[in-house]
Amino acid sequence: MKLSSRLSKLHPSGIRAVMALAAARKKSGMSVIHMEVGQPDFKTPQHIIDEAFKASRNQYIGYTPNAGTDSLRESVAERASCRNKVNVNKENVCITSGGVMAIYLVMMAILENGDEVLVPDPGWPNYLSSIAMGGGKAKPYMLNPDNNYWPDIEDLQSKITPNTKAMIINFPGNPTGAVITSEKMDELINFAESNDLYLISDEIYEDFVFEGKHVSALNNKSSDKVILISGVSKSYSMTGWRIGWIIANEEIIEASAQFVEPIASCPSSISQYAAEAAINGPQDCVKEMLDAYSRRAGIAMSVLGKAGLVVNKPQGAFYMMIDISNTGQNSDDFVRNLLDDVGVAVAPGQTFGHSSMNSIRISTAISDADVMKGSTLIRDYITSKSL
Ligand SMILES: Cc1ncc(COP(=O)(O)O)c(C=O)c1O
Repeated sequence: MKLSSRLSKLHPSGIRAVMALAAARKKSGMSVIHMEVGQPDFKTPQHIIDEAFKASRNQYIGYTPNAGTDSLRESVAERASCRNKVNVNKENVCITSGGVMAIYLVMMAILENGDEVLVPDPGWPNYLSSIAMGGGKAKPYMLNPDNNYWPDIEDLQSKITPNTKAMIINFPGNPTGAVITSEKMDELINFAESNDLYLISDEIYEDFVFEGKHVSALNNKSSDKVILISGVSKSYSMTGWRIGWIIANEEIIEASAQFVEPIASCPSSISQYAAEAAINGPQDCVKEMLDAYSRRAGIAMSVLGKAGLVVNKPQGAFYMMIDISNTGQNSDDFVRNLLDDVGVAVAPGQTFGHSSMNSIRISTAISDADVMKGSTLIRDYITSKSL
């Protein structure tokens, strides 16, 4: 059977591959500590679940407009306006089925065949598939831990060609846990503007900064080529509810919404009501999660950092890059061996780009006890395999 050649352009995530391996090991009776995936271990707060029940009891179960319900778009606009001291209207917001779909829609809306998009290395691998589906070409730029994993303007400039259309940034970062300063963000906004690029800022971890403050690309200095991606998945532990959004100029929002039509018609109506409750309801649940992620980063640092194995101390999100270069193994091999030998699942660095062949990423979105246990097993394993 001959299937579409587009299939070969997808970049399957190495994280999902480890999840499948870990699930198989678990099925065969092995106990596994899951540090491979960014799946918060918190329950969705009860008031959000209550609102979803209420919406379904009230039969709010029909299709919504492509770009989402007016009331959720308004809530997202108000949230962004308050946080960033800018004027965002509902016409600047498109609700999507998660941040993943938001990124896909943006690529469909802005790219022509052959357009190039600058992507972070290390960076989240899913960007690559969306860019490819939009007909574009991903061009990695380097994030160096010695420079806080911030983009280097000279390096970026050297990657610009007549085909460069956009640049993706992601702070707090996956897999780095890096956070950006407002000075650095201003530089990036200027860089994008002077090269006439869309600046796509993935801020899905915006609520989880434990050192410093979150800096959004959407501020009073940003041009109308700034595109912000975020959602409720991480902030409210709602990954399975599938609600994210795009904030951008009206033209991009209208185009993105048109691309929703053939793939989903609209995001789930019930989930949209739940997301509204999340955004407009009490926010102490977010603070609780932030405190937990901060504490867990501290636990992992106390074990792996003390052993000199943490590439760079994270300041946000719930990830950490661990150096495995002493073992002489590439990250794919190491990850398999670690899982088989000691039952800890982690993500291979190379799935985040060439820069990270000698690293693994751990997620600390699991219980304090498991962070301690998993980190200790990883530290002892690296030590035992060091050449
Ligand atoms: C950097 C980054 N962006 C976007 C997403 C997408 O989130 P969602 O679950 O809302 O699709 C993730 C999820 O892991 C992520 O790590």
